[in-house]
Amino acid sequence: MSHADPKFSPSCRSDVAPFLAMDVLSAAARLEADGKSIIHMEVGQPSAPAPKLALEAARNALDVGKLGYTEARGIKPFRSRLSQHYRDSYGVEVDEGRIVATTGSSAGFNLAFLAAFDAGDRIALTSPGYPAYRNIIKALGLVPVEIEVSEETRWCLTPTLLEEAQRDGSIRGVLVASPANPTGTMMTPEALSELVRYCDDNGIWFISDEIYHGLVYEVEQATALATSQNAIIINSFSKYYCMTGWRIGWMVLPEVLVRPVERIAQSLYISPPELSQIAATAALDAHEELEAIKSGYAQNRTLLMQELPKLGFDKLLPVDGAFYVYADTRWFSNDSLTFTKSMLEEARVAATPGADFDPVNGHAFTRFSFAGSNDHMKEALSRLGKWLG
Ligand SMILES: Cc1ncc(COP(=O)(O)O)c(C=O)c1O
Repeated sequence: MSHADPKFSPSCRSDVAPFLAMDVLSAAARLEADGKSIIHMEVGQPSAPAPKLALEAARNALDVGKLGYTEARGIKPFRSRLSQHYRDSYGVEVDEGRIVATTGSSAGFNLAFLAAFDAGDRIALTSPGYPAYRNIIKALGLVPVEIEVSEETRWCLTPTLLEEAQRDGSIRGVLVASPANPTGTMMTPEALSELVRYCDDNGIWFISDEIYHGLVYEVEQATALATSQNAIIINSFSKYYCMTGWRIGWMVLPEVLVRPVERIAQSLYISPPELSQIAATAALDAHEELEAIKSGYAQNRTLLMQELPKLGFDKLLPVDGAFYVYADTRWFSNDSLTFTKSMLEEARVAATPGADFDPVNGHAFTRFSFAGSNDHMKEALSRLGKWLG
């Protein structure tokens, strides 16, 4: 039994909301421990392992055995290969000196926020949006300014919405994910460029979370770097590259932030794991294997977009990218927390309630991840069909 001594209490900054998706995962694990079969559509993680080339490179590195600290910004071959990735994938020149390897994109956010902002600075985010953004921002003593986006702007932030938010106090930074979690929507290259230019003109740091790049269906993918060298790009090997557990990502920084980020990274992390840097360098060559995995997601996407409306989930947001369907589930219930709880217990399908992503309107939405296998998607649809009658 723990004993709470009133002289010792946790910091106010640590009082951030828990991830409901993780709570759903725990509830699903309890059911599984009781022998129940659960289809997992709650967590945004690929079911495939890291690409073979990455595993092979890691095995070779383990055989040599010497893994140590690296430069805080990462090993040169990794940064050079990432520089080539920008040339090949986007036709954009990025000097390797502006690339910093990070322990997943999550570490990239910490570093970007600490290097670009001071305590009390206001950072604009979309709502719905990835919940860790606001938690990290709060924990670092910054102020999240959540801007509700809707169908009207295709669930994306616009200069007009930003301008409106500025009336309540100046905004120092904007963080946008495109494709986004949970909506799956991707900004058009023009809309992205317009927003980046607005930020550039107004001295607002633009932070572009490009973690779902590579997982884009039927629309064009653009990087904020194509518009401005002042943009801070955050990316990761967790999604397209199927390497969540390797905790490896990267940033592309404007020159002025390179040394500040490096200094903070030296103290916060010393360096990202060397083994993961080596494996990730090889993963950048695993195009064929990764495209095959992506085509599995594309099949899942087509299936869900066809079949979910037949079950009554007829208000789906545009699924441009990532592996999420964000559905307006008001037709079933105005409380998606209870709705997803019943879905888990009765249909044995785990999904995430929208409240994770949007404290105001999330009660009306449910997020389904389609990162699992095609067979699992079919089974989920069959279970949901029976459950909903
Ligand atoms: C939009 C977004 N950004 C960042 C992350 C964190 O990813 P990483 O594993 O690179 O830390 C996630 C994870 O789900 C995400 O959805």
